[in-house]
Amino acid sequence: MVRAPCLLLLLLPPLLHVSADTPEPCELDEDDVRCVCNFTGPRPDWSSALQCMSAVEVEIRGGGHSLKQFIEITDTDLKQYANTIRALRLRRLTVGDAQVPARLLFAVLRGLGYSRLKELTLEDLVVTGTTPPPPLEATGPALATLSLRNLSWATGNAWLAELQQWLKPGLKVLNIAQAHSLAFSCAELRAFPALTTLDLSDNPGLGERGLTAALCPHKFPALQELALRNAGIETPNGVCVALAAADVQLQHLDLSHNSLRASAPGSAGCVWPSALSSLNLSFAGLEKVPKGLPASLSVLDLSCNRLNRAPRPDELPKVTSLTLDGNPFLDPGAPTPNDSGVVPACARSTLAVGMSGTLVVLQGAGAFA
Ligand SMILES: *[C@@H]1O[C@H](CO)[C@@H](O)[C@H](O)[C@H]1NC(C)=O
Ligand SMILES: *[C@@H]1O[C@H](CO)[C@@H](O)[C@H](O)[C@H]1NC(C)=O
Ligand SMILES: *[C@@H]1O[C@H](CO)[C@@H](O)[C@H](O)[C@H]1NC(C)=O
Ligand SMILES: *[C@@H]1O[C@H](CO)[C@@H](O)[C@H](O)[C@H]1NC(C)=O
Repeated sequence: MVRAPCLLLLLLPPLLHVSADTPEPCELDEDDVRCVCNFTGPRPDWSSALQCMSAVEVEIRGGGHSLKQFIEITDTDLKQYANTIRALRLRRLTVGDAQVPARLLFAVLRGLGYSRLKELTLEDLVVTGTTPPPPLEATGPALATLSLRNLSWATGNAWLAELQQWLKPGLKVLNIAQAHSLAFSCAELRAFPALTTLDLSDNPGLGERGLTAALCPHKFPALQELALRNAGIETPNGVCVALAAADVQLQHLDLSHNSLRASAPGSAGCVWPSALSSLNLSFAGLEKVPKGLPASLSVLDLSCNRLNRAPRPDELPKVTSLTLDGNPFLDPGAPTPNDSGVVPACARSTLAVGMSGTLVVLQGAGAFA
């Protein structure tokens, strides 16, 4: 008997295996909007996912199980289910905490190509085995947003290029956190013609060098926004150099939650993207305004740093909106910042100056070549 996984078992109802002794892993809310499955335990009842069929948002946690048992799906001709898949209300799908053969993952993407899925999130997955030959044309879903967190791929640096081949062009937002490799094979990567937002936050091992490797030149022609929170960035100037090398024209850059230095010794000046209008340098441990910032910006956020005096106008870029809250100089009456230099109002953040839990977890990984 074939047991079908997660979403694809929606397609194969007659073949389902049902075991009665486990509690229902899936729960659909009263409005038929959100359905959450958590398949923990040694023999979870996968057929419970059937009740998610009417949901708009589906979240599936695999309890660390291997999904190899569902590999037969890859031999199924999904075209015969095209109308069923098209009728699904599914718009957001999250899959996490499982080991997935690459062949199965891409077969599921092919199936989802008939759906109207807009947002896909993959978290804590171990993608095993070799990748199937690339499709002749992109047959996967037409996603607007793809979010990937803590994925390990047997195929190493080629993973994004391989994944990309299945997605219809049109992706607008790409989030990649806790990546095991961001040193992409640029020659294999195609351009992301519609991508406006790239978020590489929570990759504490990245740094300026890793950023240069990740930003494949000319592959992000529509990029407007780049987020690099807690990404091991040391100086704004280093980011400027990486942007210039990749020829990326940004409007918004977020460097908050990095331990920034005001300037790297001996660093040369760099020309920032001409359209750059907002820069976030909050929670960055800065004692001085860094040198070499873009000459004019509409928004500059310097909140929650360690500035001990008001910046002089000649130190600042020309800005219309400047945020300086949470710096010691603004609040001389308040208890002085202690050894950590953190003003109490700014300490509530979960990510104090680049010290998030993931930093500690990933520091030892050294995965960024
Ligand atoms: C799934 O269930 C396990 C065991 O009951 C629990 O520890 C875990 O937090 C749950 N995961 C989610 C995402 O709810
Ligand atoms: C990353 O994913 C692996 C495999 O699912 C898991 O064992 C590990 O705990 C995850 N790491 C974090 C930081 O969540
Ligand atoms: C800057 O980043 C911080 C922390 O990530 C955030 O709370 C704040 O809203 C951002 N500022 C702007 C102007 O977007
Ligand atoms: C400094 O102050 C912050 C915020 O109030 C607090 O979390 C931290 O523990 C203090 N550090 C020391 C060394 O007292």
